[in-house]
Amino acid sequence: MSDQQRADLPVTSSRPAGSGRSRVSDAEETSFFLAVGGEPTFRRLVDTFYAGVATDPLLRPMYPEEDLGPAAERLTLFLMQYWGGPSTYSDARGHPRLRMRHAPFTVDAAARDAWIKHMRHAVDALGLPEPHHSALWDYLERAAHFMVNTD
Ligand code: HEM
Repeated sequence: MSDQQRADLPVTSSRPAGSGRSRVSDAEETSFFLAVGGEPTFRRLVDTFYAGVATDPLLRPMYPEEDLGPAAERLTLFLMQYWGGPSTYSDARGHPRLRMRHAPFTVDAAARDAWIKHMRHAVDALGLPEPHHSALWDYLERAAHFMVNTD
């Protein structure tokens, strides 16, 4: 499979309405976004995650901008869109193509594991009920493995 095809897999796509690629219907995705509390929940998730990144000796130097705020905003908008919220991410950035957008960075097993550690803490801190906790976590863990681009 080419990187281009990989970049289009649902794990990192925006799953636009009517694309027919997703496991669940658009209505179910929208209800997931709403069921977990909408935008404030995704903002809390990403804020907690980036608080961890800010102190991480491996991850922090990977971020090109001095201010992590814009990177946090991009991840927040992507995740909101992925889970059925507004499509603000793609309106501003176009198709996610996340593997392609991570190509300039060395995402090896160590970087992936550090990313997963901070995200695990952030997801746990939300205290979501099941099945939402597991759905969110399983997706993020899978997506992190999928983003590795360096042995
Ligand atoms: C596996 C370890 C990962 C590492 C080390 C990593 C690192 C990075 C870095 C350094 C950036 C550039 C910061 C910026 O300017 O936006 C970035 C961007 C981004 N990452 Fe990751 N990332 C990882 C996994 C993921 C995963 C699993 C997702 C999605 C579930 C994700 C979503 C994003 C998004 C949406 C952007 C902004 C893309 C854009 O619009 O330019 N990343 N990541």
